[in-house]
Amino acid sequence: MEKISKSVVKKDHLPKITGRSCYVGDYTGNILTGKLLRSKYARAKVLSVKVPELPEGYFYVDRNDVPGDNNVNIVMDDTPVYANEIVEYVGEPIAMVCGPDEAVVRDILAKIEVEYEELEPLLDLRKATHAHFDYEYGKGDLEKAYAEADKVYVEEFETGYQDQAYIECQGMMAEPEADGRMFVHGSMQCAYYVHGAVARALGCGPSGVHVLQDVTGGGFGGKEAFPSILGCQVAVAAYKAKQPVRCVFDRHEDLEFTSKRHPSLNTYKIAVKDGKVTAMDIDVKFNGGAYTTLSAVVLQRGIIAASGVYNVPNLHVRGRALKTNSTPSGAYRGFGAPQTFFSVEMFMNHIAQDLGKDSIDFKLDNVVKQGDGTSTSGIYHFPVPLVDMLNEVNEKTDLFRKHKEYSKPQTGRYRKGIGMSWYFHGAGFTGSGERDHIKAVAKLHKYPDGSVEVLACNGEIGQGLRTTFPKIVANELNIPLEKVYYNHPDTARVPDSGPTVASRSLMVVGELLRRAAIKLRDVWVDGEDQIVTENFKEPDFMIPFYIDKFHGDAYPTYAWAVNAIEVEVDTYTGLTKIVDATGSFDVGTPIDWNIVMGQMEGGFLQGIGYTSTEKIYYDDKGRMRNTSFSDYLIPTSKDVVNLNCMLHVEKYPNGPYGAKGAGELPLVGAPGAFVEAVEMALGAGHKINHMPFNAEEVMKELSKEV
Ligand code: MTE
Ligand code: MOS
Repeated sequence: MEKISKSVVKKDHLPKITGRSCYVGDYTGNILTGKLLRSKYARAKVLSVKVPELPEGYFYVDRNDVPGDNNVNIVMDDTPVYANEIVEYVGEPIAMVCGPDEAVVRDILAKIEVEYEELEPLLDLRKATHAHFDYEYGKGDLEKAYAEADKVYVEEFETGYQDQAYIECQGMMAEPEADGRMFVHGSMQCAYYVHGAVARALGCGPSGVHVLQDVTGGGFGGKEAFPSILGCQVAVAAYKAKQPVRCVFDRHEDLEFTSKRHPSLNTYKIAVKDGKVTAMDIDVKFNGGAYTTLSAVVLQRGIIAASGVYNVPNLHVRGRALKTNSTPSGAYRGFGAPQTFFSVEMFMNHIAQDLGKDSIDFKLDNVVKQGDGTSTSGIYHFPVPLVDMLNEVNEKTDLFRKHKEYSKPQTGRYRKGIGMSWYFHGAGFTGSGERDHIKAVAKLHKYPDGSVEVLACNGEIGQGLRTTFPKIVANELNIPLEKVYYNHPDTARVPDSGPTVASRSLMVVGELLRRAAIKLRDVWVDGEDQIVTENFKEPDFMIPFYIDKFHGDAYPTYAWAVNAIEVEVDTYTGLTKIVDATGSFDVGTPIDWNIVMGQMEGGFLQGIGYTSTEKIYYDDKGRMRNTSFSDYLIPTSKDVVNLNCMLHVEKYPNGPYGAKGAGELPLVGAPGAFVEAVEMALGAGHKINHMPFNAEEVMKELSKEV
């Protein structure tokens, strides 16, 4: 094991487990409580809002109070801070009521009368026509490949919502400061995103606002864009009230009205000749919900991964994020890739069955290797360790034997299955994002006492940055870890090192910090106050990526994984027991063994939840029906007793000590492995093309005549 991989006690461990950490909900003092007035309908015109007479010290805040633009700056600017005349989804915030006593605020909200003219909502993705985003790319000659194929297959795959289910619900607070600036803080991943959004809503310019990330109880993508919306809402309220305003959601509100993973509908047409895939024509549709928020970037990643880890010489991919009258979908660990990897992995299994082959053999015949072209005509520049990792997983689980054995007909109440999926996660931001948009800057500040502060804006959200950033710096400076610290970022003090997304922070910003530490080491003078700065540089081996054509290296490198999940299905109850879930993960050098293993185990389990139990139900009016954790079921450690994660290390020369993006990878492949296993257990004739696949789905499938 590398020295840097040796585990340390996380810097935020003690305050978190002793309860001393101060989350946004923990601040005391004169803070007004804000609560949102939300649309009752999925689509309606708001004709009038009758507000009762407000007691002294209470405020009603809506779009007329927004001093700047009533648009939240995300990728595009179509999300209103407070609703415009037409509300576009159930729960869309129309206004905020704030005041000192929460009970009174609730009482005022209950008394507000909103007159609506109901409009016909569009709730069904299959009927959606308006594309927020519409992309297309390809290579080769599809017509020729289909004409020459031995066989051409077509299937459609469907995936559902998933809620991020972080421990701490969304919460933001805004405080007008004596110098006229607005101070916004709370639970978030991307302080500079909130900063840009609030500056725009207040119309005050960047220096009029500063944003601090408070201790954050998990994000998983759910706090990438959403805090910009809530941040603008509390900032506008604080601007009007001239007092601090805080809004913290309860779990029902959080589950029902915050962004979730995009549901998808993916149609694949695949040509096979001599046992090889020769062409894929793929149509990807994501349910973007009412506003665009992050759909562009989620869709980009989803369609780049759509052909999986296979060599596809002739490829055409179209991807659309479509508008529906539902809560805007957003980022969630994996960012569009879990949807398409599930589709391509299941389809490869189905084709293998038709060819009379074991699907693992068929996949092996088509898998990419180093030097091969990527979907977007880039190159896999570095080793592709999938076959070695598959063998490691086989050694641990007896996968190859079981895969053949469980595929034979089974009888009796309990039936077994084992599924395998393999996949990648493109490391860092998609395409030219780092180079053209983010342009990360990181700094180190050495104080006269010899301590060093990391100045960057990436948020600790449980993935360990408060520990791993200082570890890198301490290692390079050869000073004790206690001498290096990383405070919660405040945009007034730290440069913009980019958002905490796309598993980029450790790999990209961590490397900037490593280089900054080398610089500091070279100029170090005892007793002096010194600052060094480091800027992002694009690795020189990259084939430039053009987003308009989806051409070039979409990612500098890839993290890789192989998953095997073994299940036992109870055909009387439909309940599926996970007998074993094993994953081999290549995220490069682990910067801290325990942190990385925690990432792998947590992410893998989240992926298992996504595909097995986490189902969201809506009624025909577009209202979510299961808004609590007793109805929306996330797995616990007890549900997967045998969760085994292994690390396979292929170092990436441009990441710190060889590290690659780690955080999202472990979630992505569970659906392919789990659903294959269940399908196998149910036996020949059962073909599963959708997920989540919970007990109810198993019973439905069993009741089919096959
Ligand atoms: N792990 C924990 N404990 N909590 C989180 O919110 N977010 C995930 C992942 N792991 C998350 C997590 C997501 S969505 C991302 S993008 C990455 O961490 C961020 O990793 P990075 O800091 O290297 O960018
Ligand atoms: Mo992660 S979904 O990129 O925040």
